[in-house]
Formats: sequence, structure tokens, C-alpha cells
Amino acid sequence: MPSPTNTLTAEPSATLPEGAILSVQGVGKTFTLHLQGRQRIPVLAGLTFDVPRGSCVVLGGESGAGKSTVMKMVYGSYGAHAGRILLAHQGATLDLATAQPREVLAARRETMGYVSQFLRAVPRVPAIDVVAEPLVERGVERQAARQRAEEMLARLSIPERLWTLPPATFSGGEQQRVNIARGFLAERPLLLLDEPTASLDARNRGVVIELIRERLARGVGMLAIFHDHDVRDAVSDAIVDVAAFTPGAGA
Ligand SMILES: Nc1ncnc2c1ncn2[C@@H]1O[C@H](COP(=O)(O)OP(=O)(O)O)[C@@H](O)[C@H]1O
Ligand SMILES: [Mg+2]
Repeated sequence: MPSPTNTLTAEPSATLPEGAILSVQGVGKTFTLHLQGRQRIPVLAGLTFDVPRGSCVVLGGESGAGKSTVMKMVYGSYGAHAGRILLAHQGATLDLATAQPREVLAARRETMGYVSQFLRAVPRVPAIDVVAEPLVERGVERQAARQRAEEMLARLSIPERLWTLPPATFSGGEQQRVNIARGFLAERPLLLLDEPTASLDARNRGVVIELIRERLARGVGMLAIFHDHDVRDAVSDAIVDVAAFTPGAGA
């Protein structure tokens, strides 16, 4: 006789493996193009991998394989149509595939950071506050947050005269470094990196490799996309070939 509570509990295998910050289990994603007669584009099927704490897992596969789609599903920007995306969040397990918007926002504030490919700069906010904001959101006093933001901007070679200016007019490389400073400053247990070094020179690529290694040594787990093979080889612990999870691939 089925117990009435059973209908609400998750399947019994929905657990995070020991030591993992993230576990992606059997995830599928199909886009529906509503403006083109609801044409359906299956992009991923059966995607499965774990991110252990303190290690860097890199998403591989050619352009169009679905790497950015995986990132956006983990960050809660896209839903998943099948499977589970389990995150160790504040002593419990959160399934990002089915989480409520307020749970996704709490996970972003406390548990996962994201360095996107491009900075989405808010008009008129100076670079220093763009970088300090995630710390302030988590309760760090504004002056202390600004001081730490300055240290990070200096480390990434952003000239001091730019700190008080909004990044909208900065060069591509400067904007990317502001973006990196912001993503790395507020330390969270999982960091998502979508081509963070694409527009950087060798020196700043070196700084980013250092930042990544420091965080890994402190137990932060990372999920990353790198175009740059030097950076990838310097920091990756495992590579997941996303193309192998394209519907029909290898079948
Ligand atoms: N919002 C979307 N709507 C429809 N199709 C999309 C959307 N986002 C991505 N796709 C499609 O999904 C596939 C994978 O894209 P993407 O994840 O950006 O690949 P990658 O990052 O590996 O280059 C591509 O065919 C792309 O056109
Ligand atoms: Mg991409």
C-alpha cells in the first residue's frame, strides 16, 4: 500500500556522492523554437558527471556541442527537461533542475559564483563597486568590501584611475578583468567559468591561473570552459566531452 508521503519524495538515488559539490545526473535539454513552428532541437541527453570539491572539471567539445547550455543549466538560467543537477547548498542538497527561483537566487548568493564570457555592466556603477557588490550582498561592510575590491583590481593590473569609472567604456580585456575580479572576490564553494581568459594577455592569463589554483587549494570546486589550451592544461583535473552526450551520439 503506497504511503501518501511517497508521492512527494525524490527518487532514492538523488544523492550527492561523498566529497562532490555538484553532481549532474542524466540531464537532458531540448530547445523549442516557438517562432519556427515549435521546431524542437535536442541538444543534450544523459549528461552525467560530478565536480569534487577542490577540483576543476572542464567542459570540452566543439562549438555548438552544448557547453554554455550546461553552464546555464547549472547556474539555473535554463531549466533541464530530464535528470538532476544536485548542488551541496548550506548543508543540504538542492536540485537545480527543479529548484524554485528564490532557491536559485540563494544558491547564487551563497554557494555558486559565475564568471561569464562578457561583463554585463550596470550603467553608472564604478568598477570598484561592480567588483565589491557580491561581498556587500553577503553582508560585508561596504568600506571593507571596497578595499578588497581594490586589491583584486590591482592584482589584475586595472589602472587605479579606472577604479572609480563605470566599466562600460573599458576595453574588452579590461572589462573581462573586472568580471574576473568580481567573480573571484566573493568566495563560494562552486565557481563556474565560461572562457574567462579569452581576451587576456599572457601576464593576466598567468594571474587568472594563480587565482584558480589558490581557490582549488582552499577546496573550491570549479566547472570551466577554456578555449585556451595552456590555461586548460594548467588547471584541469578532468575533462567532460559534452559532444558525447549529444542525442544520437555514439548510439
Ligand atoms: N536559447 C536557445 N534557443 C535555441 N537554441 C539554443 C539556445 N541556446 C543554445 N542553443 C543551441 O544549442 C546548441 C548548443 O549551444 P551552446 O550551448 O551555446 O554550445 P557551445 O557553448 O558548446 O558552443 C547550439 O545548436 C545552439 O544553437
Ligand atoms: Mg559557448
